[in-house]
Amino acid sequence: MHRRRFLSDLARTAALCAALPSEWRLTWRPRFVDDPFTLGVASGDPWSTGAVLWTRLAPRALEPMGGMDGNRPVLDWEVADDDAFTKVVRRGRYTAAPELGYSVHVEVDGLAADRWYFYRFRSGDATSPVGRVRTTPAAGAMRDLRFAVASCQHYEQGLFTAYQAMAGERCDLVTHLGDYIYEYASRDGAIRRHASKEVVALDDYRGRYAQYKLDPALQSAHAMCPWLVTWDDHEVDNNYAGDAGENLMESVEQMRARRAAGYQAWWEHQPVRVPRARSWADLDIRRTTDWGALARVWMLDTRQYRDDQACGDGTRAVPCGDWDNPSRSLMGAQQEQWLYDGLGASAAHWQVLGQQVMMAPYDSDPADPVRVSMDQWSGYPANRDRLLRVIADRAPNRTVVLTGDIHSSWVNELRAGFDRPDQPVVAAEFVGTSIASGGDGEEIAPQVQRALPGNPHVKWQNSRRGYYVCDVTPQAWTTEYRTFEYVSRPGAPVRTPTRWRVEHGTPGIARL
Ligand SMILES: [Fe+2]
Repeated sequence: MHRRRFLSDLARTAALCAALPSEWRLTWRPRFVDDPFTLGVASGDPWSTGAVLWTRLAPRALEPMGGMDGNRPVLDWEVADDDAFTKVVRRGRYTAAPELGYSVHVEVDGLAADRWYFYRFRSGDATSPVGRVRTTPAAGAMRDLRFAVASCQHYEQGLFTAYQAMAGERCDLVTHLGDYIYEYASRDGAIRRHASKEVVALDDYRGRYAQYKLDPALQSAHAMCPWLVTWDDHEVDNNYAGDAGENLMESVEQMRARRAAGYQAWWEHQPVRVPRARSWADLDIRRTTDWGALARVWMLDTRQYRDDQACGDGTRAVPCGDWDNPSRSLMGAQQEQWLYDGLGASAAHWQVLGQQVMMAPYDSDPADPVRVSMDQWSGYPANRDRLLRVIADRAPNRTVVLTGDIHSSWVNELRAGFDRPDQPVVAAEFVGTSIASGGDGEEIAPQVQRALPGNPHVKWQNSRRGYYVCDVTPQAWTTEYRTFEYVSRPGAPVRTPTRWRVEHGTPGIARL
């Protein structure tokens, strides 16, 4: 009986599909009163034959569930050689699900290496904006790379002018180092719709992402090229460490529930390819992207596995408390081992570490005892020493560290050991400023100006908003900083205040 009914259903469906005009299918497709593609499109985590294509259905983006009705709408996706989609090379179907926030993550494969493509989604009679995506060069191919580095985009503190400019940079990739959203409520200095409450639950995180993703400049930067995204603290909770929230009244159970909500919402809104965990609270996002033989980009997570900050989160005179305990880790033992083994095994010409917090030490008041930030690598000196020794050993002067978090730009030389000034320079660190966090900013803060002579490994500092662009060739790495005089009103022109070069295999960073 069962089998016969199934077969007759199948035959009837096939007959209907064959016999009915194409309009018939439209009635079986979702109908949207409002455009469901309000959050734009994105691509990310490319490999040599594919990439992740992303969108999220949200016809009324700021309403619960983005205004969707609880059904499972079917989408069609297309990848083409041209933006008119006359030469479609891949297409497929995807069913969006309410339990994943109607997010869409298509892993398209079977594309040619080192090529640009166009993609779009369709559902019902709605068509998404068109995005550009590219594959990476094939394994072994030595091809140049141009990419931009962004972080920290506190929506109400500034316009996303930086993303408008970035969309015109002709980059192969964008890396985003976290603080894509801010979880807390803030009215101070708000120049546009401010967040009215601190988000803790999944639906509220979703709403916060939707608020940010409605920004047209952010959408245009996503549509320009694939992104590599990691998170920092504000995707969950300010300065959280592992299971320890900022607010000590939060129990481990409460913090894990909050992490699960924050991590799931992050996944739902980013074009990422990461293994699904048994619990969202344990989502493992560390991963690598190879740019042919030229570079391996490591996207690290220095939040989820870190030991709690020693002596509080702020800037402290050291030594203090447990600060220099060699067993403490910023990355967690497993991630440390994964990176150290990987750096030893990788044949990539350049090693690129995309991560959150500043690696170079910064003594904010050289007259006093050394005072460093407990939330940065300086708060975990044993982990930093281990990592820099591995870099000195396995990839010296061909490793570049990309950093976000602190809303200011820094160019830092990294030494094999910062406790001994005779240790050689083994890597370069470029700290990007924020897209918007902190508002208009200033060129250089007076207290930083005073402290710089006591921090000779810091080559340049600036506190305007912006991003930076890297041009990577086999011979040299060039970083250009982009800054904006204001983000409190539209129209700030893009400036390039400084350019820096790292010669492959040569210690140090030279100003151009
Ligand atoms: Fe930030």
